[in-house]
Amino acid sequence: MLVYLNGEFVPKQNAMVSVFDHGFLYGDGIYETLRAYGGSLFLAEKHLFRLQHSADAISLKLPLPLDRIGGALTETVRVNGLRDAYVRIQISRGPGEIGLDPALCPAPTMVITAKQFTDYPQNYYEQGVSVAVVETRRNHPLALPPSIKGTNFLNNILAKIEAIEAGAYEGIMLNWEGFVAEGTISNIFSVRDSELYTPGLEVGILEGVTRGLILELAARAGIAVRERAFPPEELSMADECFITNTTMEVMPVTRIDGRPVGTGRPGPMTARLLAAYRNEVARCLKT
Ligand code: PDD
Repeated sequence: MLVYLNGEFVPKQNAMVSVFDHGFLYGDGIYETLRAYGGSLFLAEKHLFRLQHSADAISLKLPLPLDRIGGALTETVRVNGLRDAYVRIQISRGPGEIGLDPALCPAPTMVITAKQFTDYPQNYYEQGVSVAVVETRRNHPLALPPSIKGTNFLNNILAKIEAIEAGAYEGIMLNWEGFVAEGTISNIFSVRDSELYTPGLEVGILEGVTRGLILELAARAGIAVRERAFPPEELSMADECFITNTTMEVMPVTRIDGRPVGTGRPGPMTARLLAAYRNEVARCLKT
């Protein structure tokens, strides 16, 4: 595996960053996860836009213009001879003296890795996965805005530990007011009476790229979409539920806190939106 490190491709075993990197010392950095299908990055411009948003939100000047970052992402997929790939870009504050002042770090560290994408087990899609509503609350937007895709992931890791202890595949965090926010690495949707519900951005979530596309595809298909705050009880009463992210696409959720969702089987709206998502991937690849 060749890793992109500050403008060069280096073999994995030589891809090293300083122990004084503020990404390591303080979790001071940002990242994006992308997926490549057939050698092409899917929705790259949306991920780059969010990378810029995250950089601005932490006062980090990107080391390269966005189009060149896009080029480096594509190049990392290419030099590794990959077609279906999991691609991750991380930009940290860079190495510097100990201290919180970003000015201590003159040059950010930029790393891109790409590896072969391994499909999720088929039964996750055929039978659905389980989620647990965890005690750990999503960061308050006035403390650490969830809209920043930052490498400081302890909030989500605490939630993930709870989910693992509960035997669930994904942990669902509530916001500071007790409304459903999002998963540790995913956005959440529910379906009730053929209408699609998902927490609005004001609830304090990451604006998922997949979430955005699902909302667009649902609107195009004439499905009524409600973006608003709702309590966890509404999730339990849903006919269907699913989670989304770049790698999972649309993953059916069939158990919440050990209880079945709807019939306990992935529902028709979830199947329809997964199919629409995959059609969109195929369409983008052709153009
Ligand atoms: N995670 N919410 C959180 C907290 C996330 O970390 C992610 C993505 C999402 C979904 O975003 P998108 O649809 O843009 O992938 C929502 C990625 C996959 C990760 O952590 O690697």
